[in-house]
Amino acid sequence: MDIARTPSTPDGNYQMADAPPEPVDPPLIRREDYKPFDWLVPQTRLDFALGVESTRVTATLSVARNPAGEQAGEIRLNGDGLTPLEVAVDGQASNSWRMDGNDLILPLAGEAHEIRLVTEIDPAANSQLMGLYASNGMLCTQCEAEGFRRIAFFPDRPDVLSTYTVRMSGERQAFPVLLSNGNLVAQGEDSSGHWAEWHDPWPKPSYLFALVAGDLVARRDTFTTMSGRTVDLAIWVRAEDLDRTEHAMESLIRSMRWDEEVFGREYDLDQFNIVAVGDFNMGAMENKGLNVFNTKYVLADPETATDGDYDGVEGVIAHEYFHNWSGNRVTCRDWFQLSLKEGFTVLRDQLFSEGMRGAAVKRIEDVRLLRSVQFPEDSGPLAHPIRPDSFREIGNFYTPTIYNKGAEVIRMMRTMAGPERFRQGTDLYFERHDGEAATCEDFIRAIEDGAGLDLTQFRLWYAQAGTPKVEAVLEHDGETATLTLRQMVPPTPDQRTKLPVPIPLRLALFDRATGRHSGEQLVVLSEVESVVRFAGFAEKPVLSINRGFSAPVAIERTVEPDDLVFLARHDDDAFARYEAMQELIVGHLVSAIGGGLTDAARIEARQAIGGALSAILTDPELDDAMRGELMMLPSQTYLSEQLLVADPGAIHAEREALKAWLGRTLEGELAALHQRASSQSAGMGHAARGARKVKGQALVFLAAGNPELAARTAASQYDAAETMTDRQAALMVLTGLPGAERTHKLIDFYNRFQNDPLVIDKWFSLQASSLHPQVIEHVKALARHPDFNLKNPNRVRSLFMAFTGTPLGFHAASGEGYRMIADLILALDPINPSTAARFVTPLGRWRRLEPGRAALMRGELERIAAKAGLSRDTFEQVTRSLG
Ligand code: TRP
Ligand code: ZN
Repeated sequence: MDIARTPSTPDGNYQMADAPPEPVDPPLIRREDYKPFDWLVPQTRLDFALGVESTRVTATLSVARNPAGEQAGEIRLNGDGLTPLEVAVDGQASNSWRMDGNDLILPLAGEAHEIRLVTEIDPAANSQLMGLYASNGMLCTQCEAEGFRRIAFFPDRPDVLSTYTVRMSGERQAFPVLLSNGNLVAQGEDSSGHWAEWHDPWPKPSYLFALVAGDLVARRDTFTTMSGRTVDLAIWVRAEDLDRTEHAMESLIRSMRWDEEVFGREYDLDQFNIVAVGDFNMGAMENKGLNVFNTKYVLADPETATDGDYDGVEGVIAHEYFHNWSGNRVTCRDWFQLSLKEGFTVLRDQLFSEGMRGAAVKRIEDVRLLRSVQFPEDSGPLAHPIRPDSFREIGNFYTPTIYNKGAEVIRMMRTMAGPERFRQGTDLYFERHDGEAATCEDFIRAIEDGAGLDLTQFRLWYAQAGTPKVEAVLEHDGETATLTLRQMVPPTPDQRTKLPVPIPLRLALFDRATGRHSGEQLVVLSEVESVVRFAGFAEKPVLSINRGFSAPVAIERTVEPDDLVFLARHDDDAFARYEAMQELIVGHLVSAIGGGLTDAARIEARQAIGGALSAILTDPELDDAMRGELMMLPSQTYLSEQLLVADPGAIHAEREALKAWLGRTLEGELAALHQRASSQSAGMGHAARGARKVKGQALVFLAAGNPELAARTAASQYDAAETMTDRQAALMVLTGLPGAERTHKLIDFYNRFQNDPLVIDKWFSLQASSLHPQVIEHVKALARHPDFNLKNPNRVRSLFMAFTGTPLGFHAASGEGYRMIADLILALDPINPSTAARFVTPLGRWRRLEPGRAALMRGELERIAAKAGLSRDTFEQVTRSLG
């Protein structure tokens, strides 16, 4: 019972209310209300007596008045579900404290004190996976953003930096390995087992604290830094996973080298530890000197991980490592500044992967991701600026906007300054703010001063939500080409009117006859409208615009299909080439979905697309990795974004019809490509990976055009597969096709990998995301499978997130798909609210759907909203989505 909400009678006895108390909405926290904390916490000492079902935590805080704060008579220590067992100030037991909700308030009169607090927690009962929890018998922590307050009473805010000393003791048998941040300074035996003491010399906010205790083994290596120090590296996993950690270790070493070379950043401790855990809410966490990872982003070998998984490991290892500077050495003043560390670190990991794997393909992948998840967010009810103005639950703001649009915004600064000047800006940023909790404004100012840019108007990118639209019209007269650019930033839920933003557009004008251009230009569109003239064109040139995706905007232009075919073939910017292909297909599908296409026009458009695709399939100059990109059809979500009101069934039908037509028309080329690639696809090198990619793509088209042929080809690809990439691609095609092969291969796959949770996740995902007409029944059955488990976020996502991407399943006209996701949210919310709240996003798209589905989707949101006792996480997302 919630005492605070229960009315009391005059005699002071608590009375049971007849009706449940009126629920109080979780408060809205505003950026403009920021105030520094009244106290500093120079030192923190934590003592853990470890047990899976009971861990006793003794926290000793040295506190001193903050000259920048107010002269307060008390200190507020945040807690979340904690009960204080002992409270002492300066060595004296205190009974003058009180609770205010979950927080503990302690009167303090002097300038400096030592506070000692004892609490007890039950890690095994912690299904939220925030704070200290048990996973597979081991203990680990997740503190970002506000998990530390579930471990100890503390000013749990990122601007309170403290130096931590951590002592852990526990049974040697259960917890042979004891890890925390920083360096191991002492260890020994005691009555109950053994203990270890760790000291982290770098002051840090509580969200970067971490502890791990368990039965783990390490892959070890060393790294010599640019100044010649040796760092001991260790990746900790369960014994049976040790031989799948080589790629992670290599990725870590490459990241450390790259950050020195490209950003001048050196590692700053003698040890760097990574731990892999199977139960984790997100990808990974950058705790100082002790990164904790979802196993998905550590473990990889060719038999169980796809090439995409390998890239994921490399990218996330780099991301978390790079946080050591962009996040840890310079941290965030408050959570509204989250993009300060996340946007910048995503940009850094993107640039790293561009360097490792080739810039063109990596850039295309990143843009595809941005468009399929961030653009929809920015045009929907959950739109927010990369620096939000308010929130109820910060966990809801770890979004594609903060991460990926945040990275795009900083990338634009780099594009405008050039890489060398940008580096001067980041050097200045790290130098100015090392050891501080900084703001986005601090970052912008450092880039202005260091790179020599004026970002006055550019700051709007931090304040305004919504994807700007840029209309581009190219006209030709005499010898002059005239480009008219017009921008519009669409209204978003809290922001009705918008100002124009500076939009850096890299562009080139191609001569039709020679297939070349005379140099790329950077045009920054700062006004609503601007006109640029180009002299010396006897004929109308072909415009290539937003090359390299230099700005995260939607370009709208009317362009002849012939020009797009030309660019798809001749553009020397790889992204622009991909983009031309996408534009060509989107243009056709959007008119086809609109219903206004004559048979003749349909044939003409298909032939243009088929011709361009045929050239891509057979171009001997093309690298397979790039060929694989150029072969991809625009996704269902990206197509939906192009339409004011979407009918998922109609979009799917037209997309499939085109795919089938291409598969039939180009069957010869596709089969030849598949065959050629099959003979080249062994090993983990660049060429072999490219071959596997085009092989998978070819199979997708063949399956649409000629299901019988594709089923045979896929079955033999499955049987011959030496890599998970080949096996999964074949099984994906088979799961979408009815027939006996489907069942046989799914059973084989399960039996082969039943002891490997990450591969069984794939088994769930493949079935849940398939184009099979019975996908809903399959998902229902899988939810009752003994291997399904609501407490494991990877497993929940593998079944249900995958399902939300299916046009025929999730968007079934009956509303059954929406109901399944709403039921999931209601079941998961009490177990793991931060994971549950993430499933609200797909239900928030109702405004953009045709009326029948819109009403059904909205109905499900209302059903969730009506449930009493929702978490803050789900409450906020549902109310915003209904908005
Ligand atoms: N800071 C982490 C990253 O981006 C994100 C993260 C990991 C996280 N676990 C979390 C955020 C739990 C919120 C809750 O690298
Ligand atoms: Zn991050």
